[in-house]
Order: sequence, then structure tokens, then C-alpha cells
Amino acid sequence: MINLKQSSGIKIEETNEWKRRISEFNQLIQTKEYSEWKKQAWLSVNEEYFQTIFNKIKIVKESLCKDYDYIVSCGIGGSYHGAKAFIEAKYGVDSIESNRMIYVGNNLSSNHIHSALKKVRGKSFLLVVISRSGTTFETAASYRLFSDLLKTQCPDSYNKHIVAITHPTNGKLREIVNAENLLSLPIPDFYEGRNTILTPVGLFLLELANFNTKTLCDSFLESRQHAFNKGTKYEGYRYAAYRTEFVKSLPIEVMGAFETEYESLQEWVINLFSENEGKERRGAYLDHVLFTRELHSLGIFLQEGTQNNFETLWWFKKAKNDVIYPMWDIDYDLTNVVAGRTLHSINKDIYESVCEAHKKSKPLITIEFEGFDEKELGELILFFYISSIASSHFMGIVASLTSYKDPEWGVDVYKSEMQKLFAQNQKP
Ligand code: PA5
Repeated sequence: MINLKQSSGIKIEETNEWKRRISEFNQLIQTKEYSEWKKQAWLSVNEEYFQTIFNKIKIVKESLCKDYDYIVSCGIGGSYHGAKAFIEAKYGVDSIESNRMIYVGNNLSSNHIHSALKKVRGKSFLLVVISRSGTTFETAASYRLFSDLLKTQCPDSYNKHIVAITHPTNGKLREIVNAENLLSLPIPDFYEGRNTILTPVGLFLLELANFNTKTLCDSFLESRQHAFNKGTKYEGYRYAAYRTEFVKSLPIEVMGAFETEYESLQEWVINLFSENEGKERRGAYLDHVLFTRELHSLGIFLQEGTQNNFETLWWFKKAKNDVIYPMWDIDYDLTNVVAGRTLHSINKDIYESVCEAHKKSKPLITIEFEGFDEKELGELILFFYISSIASSHFMGIVASLTSYKDPEWGVDVYKSEMQKLFAQNQKP
């Protein structure tokens, strides 16, 4: 069960204004009366829908080798963050499952791509290319390089080692799939990239990492039912309401986590919220910090520097692995006081200390999660999906939930500038 606390001293959800706004939103979401929500297909998916996806994934998996050294996942934004976030959250950053994954297509760093190519050269690898539009340059660039390597390493069967996840009928990547007879999985209609963790975009890679995807999706559906039953009392609405209030004077939301494996999960949340609400000169600028690491760098700024931010601390009640703090005969470093305890319980003391210290200078929200297995992660996905669209709605930007494809707007501005320079610098 996800639990939300906040330090502002005022229970805004109990004010008449917020009671009305939350109730209005709850009514809209439950009846799906708002036309924008047609694009939020996750609001109405069911067991049957997931079963169709599992069947498709099963067919593709059955035609693959079972023992690739590496899985190279090529994609950016919503076509990148989800699987990485959830694999690391479940297994840890340095686990066998995480180390087998290589993520490319999410940047154009020549060093990064060079070393990724070096890592897989001469090894067996599956190339998973993910792009809904099929026109994203970063993805296309890495796809060229890695598919060319496959063509050199296994010229007669390279297309059996590529899985393309893209629009079922349209787009440049779909054209490649058809021309080169690649294995493929569809990104269904009515999904923005950032909402695709429970479509083949996320589920295929999670299955390759031995996730129990059925439990994850069942939990998502159960959590949605639970949220709808809870109605106006759902924690995700409260989180959205507090963010909306705080952002009026504090435009930056700093998310803090106390475990390394949740950093990518926070990046996934940043993708989700920023692309939903970062429009019309509104929304919170989100960033994430790892505590206690950043307590010794950014911590001083957060407490004593420019007060332009509020903090949302994440606490996971369970530890994946733990160690006992050792007792020394001579207490040179004066830390015997915590000897015999688990590191996770000591970390919890720090989390509580940070809450106490930081709430003196700013509003603080804390979200407590039970743990990191499929059931709990399914609940977490639903929590952030709902709180993200609720935030956008409360901030008055729900009408722009979707990304525009306008060369004069948003990320498309850099893309059209990039195309101009590419044309200008083209080799003769
Ligand atoms: O959420 C989104 O829509 C974006 O983050 C996209 O996923 C991202 O830009 C990649 O797009 P595509 O899958 O079309 O390559």
C-alpha cells in the first residue's frame, strides 16, 4: 500500500476548494468523460488486452535464441526509461539482469556508443529497437550501427536477432520491418511513449529479464480498481493536489530516494510528469537526488540555498538485501551505537532525520512504498500514471496532455534546427 505524508501543516484536501476539485476530477476520470483521456488507453485496458500482448510476446520469444550474452535496447524517452527503471528496481543496478542489458539510442555520445559497440563485438546479442514514430534520430543512429554489426557478425541470419517494437502499420521503422522481414511487436494506438511500460515497449524487455509480467499487470488492474473504489480519498489525487499548490511558489520538485536502484525509476517519473505537464509555461521542473550521497553536496543548497523547490522523498519499507552493522571492540569511529542493526533500519533513521531537518525550510512530501516486487511495482505505476494526469489537470494543462508534432513547438524545435544543420553539413 502506498502511503503519502506531507509536512505543510495544512490538509489542503480538506479545504472546500480542493474537495470540489478532487471530486470533479474523480468524476471525470471514472466516467472517462474527458476527450483527452481517449489517449490514455491505460485507463481502460483489461485482462484480455494484456493476454493478447502476452501471446504476441510469447510467439516472438519462442523464435529467439535463449542464451544471448547481451540484450541491446535501442530507444529514447518513453521508448527507453521504463524497462531500465523497472529492471533496476526489481533486481538492482549491478544484478545479472541489469548487466545483461545495454541501452543505446538514448544519446549521441560517441564514447558511450563506441564502448557499447566494443562490448558486444564478437558476442551474441539481441537488438531490440523501440520507436513509435520510427523517425527519432538518436534511435535511428544507434540502430544503424548495431544492426550493421549484426549484419557483419551473422550475415545470413541477422534479422532473426532483431525485434522492432513500433506502430503496427505506419512509420519508417515499420517499413524496415517489412522490407527486412524482422520480428516485431506493436505499440498500440492511444499511448504516448511515456505511458508504454505496460505495452510491448516495456513488457517485452521485462519478460526477457524474467519479470513476472502477469503479476505486474494484474496488480496494475487491481490497483486501478482500488483507486476507483477509494474515489476522492485516493493517495494519487492528494499527491497531485499538493504538487499543484507547492508549484505555485516553488517551481522545482526535487525527488529524493535512499537506494541506488530507484534512481532510474525516478527518471521514468521525470519523463512521465515533464512531458505531461511541462507546457504552456506551467508545471514543475523535476529532478532527482540520491540520499545520502547528495546530503554531502546538494544537501546544503536544499536547506540553506535559494528556496525555489519542494522535496518529495521516496521511502521503500523493504530492503532487497541487507547487512548487519558490525560491532568493534574499540569504538574508534564512535559508531558502535548502531552496531547490530541492519543497514536498512539505519538508513530509515537517516530518512526520518532528513524529513525533520528539511521540513524546517520547505514543504516536504514523503511517499512510502511497501517494496519492489511485481505486485508493488504494478501499484506504483498506477499511482504515478494517475497522479501525473491529475497534476496536469489541476495545473490547468490537461488539454495538452499529448505531444504535438509542430516544428515550431517543444522538442520539435531542436529537431527542425538539427535537420537544417544536417543538410548544411552534408558530405558532398
Ligand atoms: O513520451 C513520449 O512521447 C516521448 O518520450 C517519446 O517516447 C520519445 O520522444 C521517443 O519517441 P519514439 O518512440 O517515437 O522514437
